[in-house]
Amino acid sequence: MKAYRARLLRFDEDSGAPLFDEDGLLVIGPDATGRAVVRAAGAHGALIDRFPGVAVEALRDKLIAPGFVDMHIHYPQTDVIGAPAAGLLPWLEHYTFPHESRFQDPVHAREVARFFFDELARNGVTTALTFATSHAASVDAAFEEARARGLRFITGKVLQDRHSPDGVRDQTEQSLIDTEAGIRRWHGVDRLGYAVTPRFAPTSTPAQLRGAGELAATYGDVWIQSHVAENRDEVRWARELFPDSRSYLGVYEDFGLLRERAVYAHCIHLSQADRERMAATGAVAAVSPTSNLFLGSGFFDYQAADAAGMGYGLASDVGGGTSFSPFRTMLAAYTVGREGQTKPGLSLTPGQLWWQHTAGAARALGLQGVVGNLQPGNEADFVVLNPRATPLLTRKTAQANSLDELLFALIVLGDDRVVSRTVVNGR
Ligand code: GUN
Ligand code: ZN
Repeated sequence: MKAYRARLLRFDEDSGAPLFDEDGLLVIGPDATGRAVVRAAGAHGALIDRFPGVAVEALRDKLIAPGFVDMHIHYPQTDVIGAPAAGLLPWLEHYTFPHESRFQDPVHAREVARFFFDELARNGVTTALTFATSHAASVDAAFEEARARGLRFITGKVLQDRHSPDGVRDQTEQSLIDTEAGIRRWHGVDRLGYAVTPRFAPTSTPAQLRGAGELAATYGDVWIQSHVAENRDEVRWARELFPDSRSYLGVYEDFGLLRERAVYAHCIHLSQADRERMAATGAVAAVSPTSNLFLGSGFFDYQAADAAGMGYGLASDVGGGTSFSPFRTMLAAYTVGREGQTKPGLSLTPGQLWWQHTAGAARALGLQGVVGNLQPGNEADFVVLNPRATPLLTRKTAQANSLDELLFALIVLGDDRVVSRTVVNGR
């Protein structure tokens, strides 16, 4: 067992409200199966006598918080960040597909995966639901690297058997065989999970989507990930290709791809009926604000999502997104909320923003009680944050009179410099 004395941030799992101890204690140790988990968390004074002899590391000037959970990111797009294009579809054609075609080379995939996981750690991200590419080698490279690092990590082979150039287009039958082989090889190994990953409806034939839905039904606890309603040209294209479906989102429902553990990036141009279908089926949105601002896609409508009761959490969507940093993503989410759609001027609280990138994201992934929080029983993934990482942060956080002011200073001014340590699986 090991303990840390620091300022401590957790969340109430039911209400999502932040819980804060100015003088906190976090105790971690093995559970019955040997996993490193939180054994106790709360006020130092209330807990310390229960743990005589346990080594306590003093980090009184630091803030310990749950490791961040990124609900949607593309590891093969690490080198695509900052590629300018008129919008989503030209961006895919001119930058993303050419980059992704290189991932048939396992050596390249492994090199990018290493850099990617280093970058997640530097930014305090301890769990990510990640796109690979259409090449099986890209999936194996990511899983092997994540496993070596002890991460809770989810990825899957991208399915795209049409409207895709040579080099990334796959073949319907083989793509489904590869997906099932990937599930059997990786899902549930250590902390790894598999996601059935149709890129988006326009690049899959009905046969491929049907096969994806069948695999998602057979293997009920694997994840599903895709994109929906990001960009108006994309929405128009999807409607043309699937005229019999109720809507673009309805395509996924028609093929059995809306259920719990189904995660759809963007969800901007949805109808209220679509949002209600997401809520009813348990499918959730990966809100990707830096990507939506960079590609000019639009603004996620928080109020409409809440009115429908659909789940969501935050995501970087690198490389459409512009930063690996959860602080940049939370700030962009705040900006997007301000712009609003239902009613402009929404002011998300720092606690809500932080929850959306930790316990709220974990809940949306079906991993509540597992990651994203520091309540007893949670896996021991956390970050040690330095509120004095820059001169301006030192000045600003010294003047914080409340938890909200402290958290908002970190969200607005923070980046990778704030993350002084990332602990995964207790290490
Ligand atoms: N839609 C289909 N593929 C992609 C992708 O790689 N990035 C984004 N942002 N949207 C997509
Ligand atoms: Zn994406």
